[in-house]
This record gives sequence, structure tokens and C-alpha cells, in this order.
Amino acid sequence: MSRTVHVDLDERSYEIRIGTGCEIASLREGAAGQRALIVSDAQVDAHYGARCEALLAGYGMKVRRAVVPAGEGTKDLKYVQELYERAVEAGLDRHATIVALGGGMVGDLAGFVAATYLRGVRFVQLPTTLLAMVDSSVGGKTGVNLKAGKNLVGAFYQPVEVVADLATLATLPDREYASGLAEVVKYGVIWDAALFRKLEEQVAGLTQRDLTVLEAIVARCCEIKAEVVAVDERDAGVRAILNFGHTLGHAVENVAHYDRWLHGEAVALGMVYAAELSRRETGFPDEDAKRLTRLLKDLGLPVHPGAGGFGGDWVALRAAMSTDKKSRQSVPRFVLAQKLGAVVFDHAVPEDVAAEAFGAVFG
Ligand code: NAD
Ligand code: GLY
Repeated sequence: MSRTVHVDLDERSYEIRIGTGCEIASLREGAAGQRALIVSDAQVDAHYGARCEALLAGYGMKVRRAVVPAGEGTKDLKYVQELYERAVEAGLDRHATIVALGGGMVGDLAGFVAATYLRGVRFVQLPTTLLAMVDSSVGGKTGVNLKAGKNLVGAFYQPVEVVADLATLATLPDREYASGLAEVVKYGVIWDAALFRKLEEQVAGLTQRDLTVLEAIVARCCEIKAEVVAVDERDAGVRAILNFGHTLGHAVENVAHYDRWLHGEAVALGMVYAAELSRRETGFPDEDAKRLTRLLKDLGLPVHPGAGGFGGDWVALRAAMSTDKKSRQSVPRFVLAQKLGAVVFDHAVPEDVAAEAFGAVFG
């Protein structure tokens, strides 16, 4: 059981393999004798580090593991420096490979190290969260955070292969799994109404982490991301559509200091808001907005902040949105839906509409 998705980027093209117990085709032959550094966080390493090391050793590679603390705080230049030192100790040369084994945090951090150590060594992504499988491991965005904000230092650096072993999702905590489902729903809204319908029909299989259901859905999300990245690798235009729900979502994470909402939870709230804006600005049908809210709820995602609120009011959220990377002259730019499967991007919303829509869905 496995599927392959091709990411078409000329000489930087690669395959994404989705299944269970996947091999790493790019290393299976021809890498014997070469060095590999597996980068993981402590939680993922405890589950899968030894198995991954044995797999690479079985290919004849000289393998070391570097383990960093779990959590977004590790996506920091301090750990970039630490990993450079681990790379030197492990004797990594220009023929070596850095393997990211983990979620988006590990992938972004290890990818940035791979992009910059010796001006770039081979990089393989082994995503172990649903979010990383459908989003962060694909498309080559790597980087770390600064105190001033998330992902402010980074590089576009494509992996040579992505292998998503769906069996690793069995140990992923429920909230983390649901967080990944928010990004899955996003692909249905921005690109593929048939995918959206399939998600509605397969809620039970998705929440029960049915591997057959997941294989098809993860592969479809990767196909969509691959298609978008192939036309806009460096995020100059249409790649912005991948940020549906993220304009408010990023602000929600920011005002709560990144310790209350998981990324996908914030994106779910942001999608509810974007749907309301879309109803008002781009003719998104009421029924489609209702279907989106219902699906998010059914998948265990928040559609309202609840009694505790966002951790900041509209004024604070609006201020946070003005510093979003996609805003211009402090005016936030939104991705808005015209119908399920079709969006516009770079849309500036009048201030009164933005505030009224917020009150309408979260008031
Ligand atoms: P994460 O990497 O922090 O992982 C979440 C938690 O799950 C961690 O505690 C981790 O130890 C644990 N975990 C991971 N896999 C596990 C498994 N199989 N079993 C048990 N526990 C497991 O979070 P994430 O949601 O995967 O990624 C978020 C990061 O991704 C953020 O830094 C975000 O900025 C980044 N991101 C990057 C892109 C991109 O295009 N590069 C896109 C979206 C998000
Ligand atoms: N996750 C957004 C992007 O890859 O562009």
C-alpha cells in the first residue's frame, strides 16, 4: 500500500511517497558509505529514532542521531548552531544527508541546517505529524523564528525525497492530529470541492485514523500543494492561496503568545472568519460557509474561541494582522473563497467589513 506524488521543479524535482513502512528510495541504493545525520525531537526520537537509524544503517550509511527538545521554542538559531556542531562531530561532508524525522518544527529547523551547512547538503523529509505530511514537508520552505516573529529567517530548499509513513500517526496526540486536519480541509476549500465532499463523507474514517482513507486524502493534499508550488516555488503569487484562514489564524496564535492554540486550531478559527468575509466580499454561498463550519466541528476543531476568548480582543487581533508577512502598508491581505474549490488572494477588506464579520461569527 503506497502512493507517490511528483513535485515538478526541474532539477529540484522529487517524489513524495505516502504509505506505511516506506523505504527511502533516494538513499536505498548508492548511499552506502555516506554519512547521515537524523534530526529529531525527543518525543519523536523516542518512538522512531532507533528504527530510522537501523533503516539507514541497513543501506550501508554511517548514521548519527541529533535530538533536540520538542516544541516551537526549538525553532531557533541557537539550535541551528547546535546542529551545525553535531554535523561537524558526525563528519558530515558534501555527500552527506540530513534527515528530518518529525513534525513541521523539526522539518523547518533541519531543512534550514541542510540548506546552509557546507552551503547545502542533501535533505530528506520523514514527516511524522499530519500537518507535516500534508503541508510543511512539501514545497521547500525552511527556517527558524526570531523574537520579533515566526519564520523570519529561512531559505527555500527542496528535499530530495519526502516519505510519509502513515503508521507513525498512531502515536500522534489527538489535538496534534486534529490540527493537521485543519490544513487538510483548507485544500478542499482552496482547490478541490470533490475533496471537500469526500472529507464530509469520510469524517469517521478520518477521526479514527483509518490508513486507507488517510493514504488517499494525504496524497490528494500533496498533489494540490505540489501543483501550487510547481507554479510559484518562491511564494511570489498564487502560493499565497495556501494561507486561506491563516491571516486571522496567525494573529490568533500571536495574541495568545503561541501557547494556547495549536497552529491548525488557529487556522480553523481563521477559516471560519475567512468564510464570513468571503460571504460578504466574494459571494461565497451561505450554504458553503455552513458546510465548512460543520466539517471543522465534526473533525474536532474549534469554530469559536469559547468562554475564554482569544486571549486578545478585535483591536489586538487587527493589530497583529497588520504585521502579517502578507500584509502591505499594514493592510492585511486575505485569501477569500468564491465557492468551495475556488479562491482569490491578495484581497484587501474594508475595515468596517472586517470588524463586522468578526462580530458576526465570534461575537
Ligand atoms: P511539531 O513539529 O511541533 O510537532 C507537534 C508535537 O507532536 C511535538 O511535540 C512532537 O514531538 C510531536 N510528534 C510529532 N510526531 C509525532 C508522532 N508521530 N507521535 C507522537 N508525537 C509526535 O508541530 P507540527 O504541527 O508538525 O509543525 C508545526 C511547525 O510547522 C511550525 O513551526 C510551523 O511554522 C511549521 N510549518 C511550516 C510549513 C512550511 O511550509 N515549511 C508549513 C506549515 C507549518
Ligand atoms: N504553508 C504555506 C506554504 O508552504 O507556502
